[in-house]
Amino acid sequence: MLDPRYVWIDGCFDFTHYGHAAAMLQARQTIAPGDLPSRLFAGVHSDAEIAHHKGAPPVMEEEERYMHVQHIRWVDEIVKDAPYVTEPAVLDYYACQYVVHGDDITLDAEGHDCYQEVKDLGRFQVVKRTCGVSTTELIQRMLDGPRPQAPMEPVDASTLRLFATARDGFSPWCWVFDGTLDRCLVEGGFVWEPQAAVYVEDNFDLFHAGHIERLARVRDIAGAERLVVGVQAAPNAYMTLRERVLGVLSCDAVDAVVVAPAAGVTAELRSFCLHDPALNGVFAGLTSSAIAARVTAQRNRYAARNRAKGIVS
Ligand code: CTP
Repeated sequence: MLDPRYVWIDGCFDFTHYGHAAAMLQARQTIAPGDLPSRLFAGVHSDAEIAHHKGAPPVMEEEERYMHVQHIRWVDEIVKDAPYVTEPAVLDYYACQYVVHGDDITLDAEGHDCYQEVKDLGRFQVVKRTCGVSTTELIQRMLDGPRPQAPMEPVDASTLRLFATARDGFSPWCWVFDGTLDRCLVEGGFVWEPQAAVYVEDNFDLFHAGHIERLARVRDIAGAERLVVGVQAAPNAYMTLRERVLGVLSCDAVDAVVVAPAAGVTAELRSFCLHDPALNGVFAGLTSSAIAARVTAQRNRYAARNRAKGIVS
């Protein structure tokens, strides 16, 4: 039995950036608030499926992408190794009446629209694609090297409010502060009690599974009710402050964000070092420089392959 409150979104989600998170948030918002029980399923393609249909594997490996998507606040359940071409039978299996996708066309290995069948059945809903971020764009930034950027680039309050929403995509959840805890940008959905919170900070560049694993472990180890995350200004990061803040805000382990924290924030909250070896897990080796090195190695492999085939790039 299909249920309009059960929604499907799928994709490669390489780098699982804030554009993907925005698509998931919009997918969640197609379900009216309070219309319970509701579920957002995120189908994530495997590395092999992506390599077959796109002609190249993703930069972020499937376990990293699975982990990240699982921790996007608006997603209830991930489906690993989802088929690249969205089949009605898969939607039926999860009781999803429709699939949500951004307003771009995705083609399979044969050049056919991956959503044609579900479109023909009227089981396809379009949401707005986020401009200014894509996997290709991020790869290019890594090949170009970190660009100097304004440390305090403004973060618009309306987007912050959207990304600060609870699981339902409508009610407020995360608190957002600007520099210090007395400058509130977005009021959260719970009573703010600094004593119940633990604080960590980092630049969270290319916000990834390694960061998420550590954030989730901080809470466990510190036994805290709330997790407050400072996103540092980082003049030489691959992502702007705004992009890094939106990535962190979309993570379900996070209850409050301090944008470009001033030095005094740690004094006000119980703080925990994000680089404590006690937090090491399966994604311990993942860092923004390791990811950038992967991108360069991949580019070098393609260049060598092209040279061997006599293709000049
Ligand atoms: N998406 C979006 N905004 C972006 C990038 C992706 O809304 N800037 C949406 C896509 O429209 C799709 C979902 O995120 O509904 C998953 O996209 P994905 O399969 O990862 O592929 P791309 O659209 O190619 O994403 P990217 O360009 O980042 O690789």
